[in-house]
Amino acid sequence: MKINGEPTRTIRLHRDNPRIVQVIDQRQLPHQFTWMDLTTADEAAYAIKDMVVRGAPLIGATAALGLYLAALEVSSADDFRGPLYQAAERLGQTRPTAVNLHWALNSQLKALGQVTTAAEAVERLRQNAEAILDADEEQCYQIGRHGVGLIEAIYARTGQTVNILTHCNAGWLACVDWGTATSPIYQAHDRGIPVHVWVDETRPRNQGAKLTAWELGQHGVPHTVIPDNAGGHLMQHGLVDLAIVGSDRTTRQGDVANKIGTYLKALAAHDNDVPFYVALPSSTLDWTLRDGVKEIPIEQRSQDEVKYMDGLSPRGVTSVLICPEASPAANYGFDVTPARLVTGLITERGICAASEEGLLSLFPEQSAQ
Ligand code: MRU
Repeated sequence: MKINGEPTRTIRLHRDNPRIVQVIDQRQLPHQFTWMDLTTADEAAYAIKDMVVRGAPLIGATAALGLYLAALEVSSADDFRGPLYQAAERLGQTRPTAVNLHWALNSQLKALGQVTTAAEAVERLRQNAEAILDADEEQCYQIGRHGVGLIEAIYARTGQTVNILTHCNAGWLACVDWGTATSPIYQAHDRGIPVHVWVDETRPRNQGAKLTAWELGQHGVPHTVIPDNAGGHLMQHGLVDLAIVGSDRTTRQGDVANKIGTYLKALAAHDNDVPFYVALPSSTLDWTLRDGVKEIPIEQRSQDEVKYMDGLSPRGVTSVLICPEASPAANYGFDVTPARLVTGLITERGICAASEEGLLSLFPEQSAQ
């Protein structure tokens, strides 16, 4: 993505000081674009937990660089492994649903197993984290390359603007670059295919209204923000050609955890014969789980995220109470869409059926489990 004409990733090492990791403070968007400096593993953990960064792939990338920051904190005289394992434990506890977090930390711990000194640990963890970032960018690009065919096919059939519905932010901001659900959309737009995106606002944190709308706007993609409950109506009236969402964890049999409300969109899509695709890099696949509804841990967040909303007023960004103060609220962060409601999974290796057979056709190396 370009920000002010400059190709920009969502996470990077500071250009002049590689002991600093920089991330976009997504809590401030769309009203302010600011970078936050992270210099310790605990700051990286805070950034993930408080949703300075969010979105499954970016959570993983931040944890990977967080462990590199932990290595910088260890003095060469110390037993360097103990503190790094503890830092990995703290980073791993920040958010429960997105499996990319554990995938990235496991990759870093494996890299750590290959070094013998604290200095080597710093170097190796930096290199491995950078490889994770590069791989994420490439995988998201490939997701777009495979997914754009779906949009092209609809355009070839109808000759009309292709209307795509998405939920939450599975975009550039959720990854290192490109996004997952948005990558086919950006690539279609860049090829001159007319696309229009229905952006679910995505209560309670409004990642759709705040983040997806902002980044689509930055890239010049026509879009409309809709209340979360509008999708079914739009589908009944033929106004959605295709739904593409992201995933925080997808099981071996193709069940998909994604932001709360995704399941309802999948049900509406199923009822209206709207193709419902899930875009995900392989780091989001959890090959150890089968039944997503029973087995995927669902994050529950503060009830204040439901009870209060923030937005821009003439006095700046303000938070307001939207329900009786005494009413309790429930805040389940994610839900699970069963594989039977998913038309296909768009991965960096191609598109497959949401089933164990489909996934294994693209990832045969996982057959043994
Ligand atoms: O709670 P969030 O904002 O981290 O949730 C993000 C999502 O649900 C995304 O759709 C998912 O991580 C896929 S990101 C490519």
